[in-house]
Amino acid sequence: MSKNIQVLIDSLPSGKLQSTNYRLQESAVPLPGADEVLVKTTAVAITAGTRAGLQGSASYAGAPQAGIVMNGTGVGEVVASNVERFAVGAKVLAPTGWQTYSVHEAKALSLIDPAHEPVHYLGALGINGLTAYFGLLDVGQAAAGDTVMVSAAAGSVGHLVGQIAKIKGARVVGVCGDDAKAKVLTGDLGFDLAVNYKDANFRQSLKEATPDGVDVYFDNTGGMILGSALFRMNVGGRIACCGVVSQYDTASPEPGPKGIPGLLINKRIHMRGFLVFDFADRYAQARAELSGWLASGELQNLTDEVQGLEAAPEAFVDLLSGGNIGTRIVRVS
Ligand SMILES: NC(=O)c1ccc[n+]([C@@H]2O[C@H](COP(=O)([O-])OP(=O)(O)OC[C@H]3O[C@@H](n4cnc5c(N)ncnc54)[C@H](OP(=O)(O)O)[C@@H]3O)[C@@H](O)[C@H]2O)c1
Repeated sequence: MSKNIQVLIDSLPSGKLQSTNYRLQESAVPLPGADEVLVKTTAVAITAGTRAGLQGSASYAGAPQAGIVMNGTGVGEVVASNVERFAVGAKVLAPTGWQTYSVHEAKALSLIDPAHEPVHYLGALGINGLTAYFGLLDVGQAAAGDTVMVSAAAGSVGHLVGQIAKIKGARVVGVCGDDAKAKVLTGDLGFDLAVNYKDANFRQSLKEATPDGVDVYFDNTGGMILGSALFRMNVGGRIACCGVVSQYDTASPEPGPKGIPGLLINKRIHMRGFLVFDFADRYAQARAELSGWLASGELQNLTDEVQGLEAAPEAFVDLLSGGNIGTRIVRVS
């Protein structure tokens, strides 16, 4: 067997993340112990939330730490196994991290349905697809006829949120930071409108894009976009707080926007944070519905591929400045 190529966190970022915060290491391929499985990584997802883990603002991720393999969800193949349910050759979803080989207990693994392209488990059928599904439908309570606004709309979670909202009969306005992305949202993915938050007249454009106000705001960004959304919310509107990507890549995040709690009170807005893990007992039901939409072509799973683990640090830095459309994955082998 070859070596295990690993990408380690060399130092924690003191301001913006740099690719030099990482280093490559080669080590021996680990062996699975009793009740363990050895997985060879095929691809890993590069996701914005892991930047919150490096910042120390994601409590579920624990304290940030240098000298360890960068965490991340991957898909791969079982190459050695001491667990009957995970036979050699099986395709699995696993917390592989940024490395070619990793050992896991069975409880950390999910089998990939052979009917699906494995990388769909890093997007629409993976954590980000489930986040979009539960955040929009359970937390946001989106329904037909609603106006749904979503930020980081061309990213992994966001492009799925907008499409699911369309499937459910909502009117969808996406917010993103690039006109070419906006064209993909309205041209390819069926969003009704997309607004660029980097434009000087963003607030006015958002107002014009939401003439009947906003019923559900799916917030991936926090910051100025959340501040603008608050003023567009309808009475009884819902804000699903999914993430704060505008405040991850810094050592000094800004405070929350104006309007809290005043606007929440006057407009009787439900603003609720959630973690996708809250819905773990319903993943199978959600995956069944998501895979039905993929099969019917109603849902497109956009991926944005980068080749080789050595490219992962730069791909992460680039994602944080908006370089991706859809789910960014690193193809490992
Ligand atoms: N609650 C949960 O359980 C859960 C689970 C998974 C993910 N999340 C959250 O979901 C959000 C999206 O994650 P993802 O993995 O799908 O990432 P992503 O949207 O694929 O990538 C991040 C995007 O954020 C945008 N962005 C970067 N800086 C920004 C800024 N200052 N203001 C506005 N937008 C900015 C960029 O797009 P532009 O070109 O548009 O700027 C970039 O493409 C994150 O906040 C993440 O923490 C939450």
